[in-house]
Amino acid sequence: MCGIVGAIADRNIVPILIEGLRRLEYRGYDSAGVAVLNSSGHLRRLRTVGKVKMLQDAIVETPTDGQLGIAHTRWATHGVPSERNAHPHISRDGIAIVHNGIIENHEELREELTSLGYTFTSETDTEVIAHRIHHHKQKLGDIFRAVRATVAELEGAYALAVVSEDSPDRIILARAGCPVVIGVGNNENFVASDVSALLPVTRKFIFLDEGDVAEIRRQDVRVLDAEGNTAHREVRESALSADAAEKGDYPHFMLKEIFEQPRAVAQTLEERVAGGKLLEAAFGPLATEIFRRTEAVQIVACGTSYHAGAVAKYYIEQIARLPCWVEIASEYRYRNPVVPKNTLFVTISQSGETADTLAALRMAKQSGYLSSLSICNVPESSLVRESELVLLTRAGPEIGVASTKAFTTQLTALGMLVVALAKHHGADAERERGLVQRLIEIPGLIEKTLHLEPTIKELAKRFADKHHALFLGRGQMHPIAMEGALKLKEISYIHAEAYAAGELKHGPLALVDADMPVITVAPNNDLLEKLKSNLQEVRARGGELYVFADPDSGMQSSDGVTIITMPKHVSHFQAAAVYSIPLQLLSYHCAILRGTDVDQPRNLAKSVTVE
Ligand code: AGP
Repeated sequence: MCGIVGAIADRNIVPILIEGLRRLEYRGYDSAGVAVLNSSGHLRRLRTVGKVKMLQDAIVETPTDGQLGIAHTRWATHGVPSERNAHPHISRDGIAIVHNGIIENHEELREELTSLGYTFTSETDTEVIAHRIHHHKQKLGDIFRAVRATVAELEGAYALAVVSEDSPDRIILARAGCPVVIGVGNNENFVASDVSALLPVTRKFIFLDEGDVAEIRRQDVRVLDAEGNTAHREVRESALSADAAEKGDYPHFMLKEIFEQPRAVAQTLEERVAGGKLLEAAFGPLATEIFRRTEAVQIVACGTSYHAGAVAKYYIEQIARLPCWVEIASEYRYRNPVVPKNTLFVTISQSGETADTLAALRMAKQSGYLSSLSICNVPESSLVRESELVLLTRAGPEIGVASTKAFTTQLTALGMLVVALAKHHGADAERERGLVQRLIEIPGLIEKTLHLEPTIKELAKRFADKHHALFLGRGQMHPIAMEGALKLKEISYIHAEAYAAGELKHGPLALVDADMPVITVAPNNDLLEKLKSNLQEVRARGGELYVFADPDSGMQSSDGVTIITMPKHVSHFQAAAVYSIPLQLLSYHCAILRGTDVDQPRNLAKSVTVE
């Protein structure tokens, strides 16, 4: 998704803007731009298609500096990726804006502006906002008031940063539906889509609320809430370090994040499990009472986070014996669900800003659920702030678009939820101790699984020239197969599908031939024998099998069957997290062999803040 950076200081802010954009690259984008007020008070704008590096090169060619400016990375929604559609967009009299989100009523506003004599140079909804601000400023005389008048007309989602030649001492911000933070400095202030962009210049942040309009000057921040009242927004200190979002010695963020998983999972458990017990206060002060009353669970999420929810359904039903439903947010939000009494509504999200998940939460809050719980990796995110209960995954910043450590920490957090629910629904202290122990062992099992990397790297050579792949699993391993297929397609662009292995003979078996690799996750569980029969069906049709199997599965490599032996003693409650690791590594090495952009795959964005 798009990224915003802005700065006002007594020094040249262009390097800060460029570094901020570079740190937002993980969000996904197709073009970049910057607008700076130069020493003679004139707005200078540069825009380029492609990577931030191109913009940086353009700045070297056309030296640009100043003490006030805004910058942007654009992920195309309205209009193709091109220089003229890239932000900042400008209107008359030196007004420049950058915008994240989508304006739904842009066409009618555009028509009105055209009849007022404004000409458009782009196909974007954003340019409409720039001209609207100019239009209002003519009547109201002040850029802050003009922005407030403009946002009152907008339908849709936006985070905006606005500068104007006649107000060289401030940046105006507005937020509705898209995140934006203010970075508080010493006699200088900043703005960005998320904190990671500003970590080299500050650790202090102000998070705007929905509907806020703010103006930032060098020494001052003023915020008005949606009703136009002066609002006090707390300054919070971020615990993240500036190098948390660096690759270090790894060639890609994705590989670094895969190898960070033992630590990330251990951190997610820290201080929350102790002495064989789960400390359910970790979910929030009301957690005990809410879990006691919970009679059913509805989980809503997107993509990888949805897959984590789909795994949790098995655990919640088998271990806590509560009914559980899981749905992708973009579908859930347009249903009119019947909500059974005392149902807990759970959202899962790495970013906490996914538009569909957030909309589903807002809808759920009006629909009679018992309470809402968010499992999320970003403490200051909208999802966290709007949920009654929260359990933060402590994965640290995940920069690679392909989710890896966010997924296994979500599974861990969901494991804790299962224990919490089970405690209130029949599990005794011994059962709790056993489950907690299984959770504590996960980091060590992941560590052992990571040692398979050289084997998987070799294996990837057999996939790299394939056009399709099938992933199979049964029970809670079906969502892991789905996650494996998603990883492979999103970063290597190989078409991959996942099936519950028992479903194969109802159609997809027709696809199987020697050219279709079939990747299977086979822990030692009560479905193993059934799974083996399904694999026989594949082998009988000439399908090439690659099976990640438990050492006690009794399976051995043979003609057309490659067995990759996983660590010993992986229990039912641990298998989902542990067996997802080789699938992440396989996708990574396939993508490397195919030469794709592993961390920023084409067409995708890290934080999907549009519907
Ligand atoms: C998976 O690798 C993707 N990054 C994607 O499916 C992601 O999980 C989805 O967009 C949901 O994002 P969220 O967890 O931030 O809500």
